[in-house]
Parts: sequence; C-alpha cells; structure tokens
Amino acid sequence: MSAQPLRIGIHDISFATAHQVLDLSELAEHQGIDVNKYYVGIGQSEMSMPAADEDIVTMGAEAAGRIIDRHGAEGIRTLLFATESGIDQSKSAGVFVHGLLGMGENCRVVELKQACYSATAALQFALGIVARDPREKVLVIAADVARYALDSSGEPTQGAAAVAFLVTADPALVEIEPVTGLHTDDIHDFWRPNHLSTALVDGKYSLAAYLRSLEGAWTEYQARGGVAFDDIDRFCYHQPFTKMAVKAHDRLNTIAGSGLDRDARRAQIAASLDINRRTGNSYTASIYAGLLSLLNDDEADLEGSRIGFFSYGSGSVSEFFTGVVQPGYRALLRRDEDAALLDSRVAIGYARYRSLHEAVDEVRGEDVVTARETTGPFRFAGITDQMRRYERTR
Ligand code: COA
Repeated sequence: MSAQPLRIGIHDISFATAHQVLDLSELAEHQGIDVNKYYVGIGQSEMSMPAADEDIVTMGAEAAGRIIDRHGAEGIRTLLFATESGIDQSKSAGVFVHGLLGMGENCRVVELKQACYSATAALQFALGIVARDPREKVLVIAADVARYALDSSGEPTQGAAAVAFLVTADPALVEIEPVTGLHTDDIHDFWRPNHLSTALVDGKYSLAAYLRSLEGAWTEYQARGGVAFDDIDRFCYHQPFTKMAVKAHDRLNTIAGSGLDRDARRAQIAASLDINRRTGNSYTASIYAGLLSLLNDDEADLEGSRIGFFSYGSGSVSEFFTGVVQPGYRALLRRDEDAALLDSRVAIGYARYRSLHEAVDEVRGEDVVTARETTGPFRFAGITDQMRRYERTR
C-alpha cells in the first residue's frame, strides 16, 4: 500500500498595518490633480502611514502575535522574516519579533530579501523544511514600509503592512501544490541603494518588466507540468498598486488564450484587491495581503478552489505557483478583526503625512526616545547606545 503524499501549506494567516491612514484625495488635492488618477487609474484609495513608533517589527509582531495567541509558539522552530525595509544590516528583524512574542529559544530565525519576492522564497523554504520533517512548523512574517521620495511618481503607491502565516503539514487554509515556475533577470526597474531611505523606480519600465517576468514564470510553470489556466479558479498577484494585478491578469489571459471576457477576468481577482487598495503597497507582504483579502470575501465559498499566485520582486525574481483552499477554511478567518484594523486607523492630513515622511531621515543613530503614538500592541520605543528598543504597549 503506497503512503499518502504529504500535504503542506498555509495553516493560518494574519495581518497588521500601520495605525494612521492618508486618503489619496489629500495627496491629489496637494498636487492639484484629479483624484481619480489614483482611485481609478492606479486603483488605490488610501495609504497606511507608520507613526514614529511603528515599523516592520511592530507590524510583524502584531500580525504574528495573533497566530501565536491561537496556536501557541510551541513547535515553531523556524521564523523567516521577509522584508526589503530592514531596520538593521546584521540582526534579523525576526529576532526582535521572537523576543517580543516570547518564543522558545530552540528556534532558527533569519531575514530574507529580494525586493517584493522574498516572502515567497520564505514560503518555499518553509515547505521544504516541513517536507523533510512533518513535525516542523514554520512562522513566516512578511512586512514592509513602502517609501518613495516626496513628489515622485511612486508617491501615491506608498503604504505599509505585515502578513504572518504558519506553514505546517495538513494545513487548514491553503495546501500549496508542488509545481512552480521561476524567472530571474538582472535588471534595475526598482531598487534602493544603501544610502537612501526611499526606493528608486523606473515606473513604466517596472510595469513592463513585471509582465515579461510573468510570461517567463508562467511558461516554465507550464513546461514543468503545471495545471492548465482553465483549472485555476482565482488568481492572486503581487500588487505594488492594485491596477498592476488587473494588467497582469489581462496579460496572463492573453498568453494562455483563455477567451474569458472582461467581467469574468475581473471576477477571478477582484476580492484579492480589497486590502491592498486601502493599505497601499506593502512590498513583499502585498501578495499575501491579497490572499487574505481573497479568503475574507464573504460572498464566495472557496472550498476546493485552486488559486494561482504570481509573486514578483523587482531586480528581478518571480515565481508562479498554485494552492488549493481547504474545507472549513472560513472558521479560521478573522474577518471582523481585519476590517477593524483598516477602519480604526487614524485619518491624517497632508501636512502630518509630510512631516512623518521627512522625519524618517532625521533618525541617524543617536539616542532617541520615540513619541508614544501607535495604538497597536507593540511599539518602537527608541534607540539607546545604537540599539533599537521595542516594547509591548499592553
Ligand atoms: N481618471 C482615471 N484614470 C486616470 C486619470 C483620471 N483622471 N488620470 C490618469 N489616469 C490613469 C492613466 O490612464 C493610467 O492608466 P493606464 O496605466 O491603465 O493607462 C494611470 O492612471 C496612471 O497614469 P500615468 O500617467 O501612467 O501615471 P504616472 O506617470 O504618474 O505613473 C506609475 C504611474 C504606476 C508608473 C507610478 O505611479 C509609479 O512609478 N509607481 C510605482 C511603480 C512600481 O511600484 N513598480 C514596481 C513594480 S513591482
């Protein structure tokens, strides 16, 4: 009798964002342009804006804290922290989270970077760890603060969020299937040199590079025996701004020769856009915020549905893969909590946004006591002797 193949995937998923929000109408008004360029043209309505005492660690700990609260930290022997907005060149942001959440010392903790792709690398590495020993549980945290220069074309796409997910055998939410398609190309479409706190982007080139990479990853996915386009029910894309996912899905339909009309194509991705439209870009977290958004759709029963994922990180590395939503997944969702995180953010105006944006470059490593602003459960308390200090607020 042959053994059942091991099922591995996402057992739980949770989300956090910054606790302030700028409606893009504020930015459009400052710029003297029609806000529909943002609301419709790029598909963004708001951006989450971190306060001085919020960053990838505080958001990552908040998202992961919900998973630990539910499942406990016992048995989690790997914590992978994916980000491209790191807060130290040496120490992993994940070690700060490990400390804040009081996780056990028998744990490997590491940070991963490749623009917006690295959370998918973390997922694939986690699947490998569990495949080797099904007792293993891997906590993946994807967290980023997307920052562009003031008055640049990327400015309206800024944002901040974290998504945490637990990878285990016999997952309760989404089983990840083994076939993947990969694509890497050494280009400069978006990058952030060490001396800059804001990213550089060649906007139009980055859009074209994303679509080219999608074709490359999809082609390899098919060549390696991936399922046909028609056997995928929903799609979830990396979303630097939600219109990008719309453009990407249209392109994939063309490449695959799907014959679906516009409404059918939109229906395959619409629910995955809701969270990102309101948080703004969260770089490597955005595709998994898209997954959570899709699962949270209360008008759809996704049990047994296959989701196609396209993860893209500028520079560039991308991957196409699929997952199947598990029976009973709805019982694990935190719909009301997720909605409250978005709805309870404090609305700020343009002047406050601008001063928060400029303040980031004033932190140079001298001792700092950070103003108490966040309403979240963890805060960045300041810097003492070049060491970052974090604390619980409750
Ligand atoms: N009402 C509705 N739509 C409008 C509009 C209005 N008043 N004004 C403009 N638009 C539309 C445009 O037609 C365009 O849509 P299209 O792309 O479907 O044709 C869209 O809004 C954007 O307008 P555009 O003139 O191209 O804006 P831009 O020159 O400011 O640049 C980006 C847009 C996306 C290139 C820019 O925001 C950017 O660089 N973003 C960051 C890119 C990024 O994240 N790259 C990483 C990829 S992973």
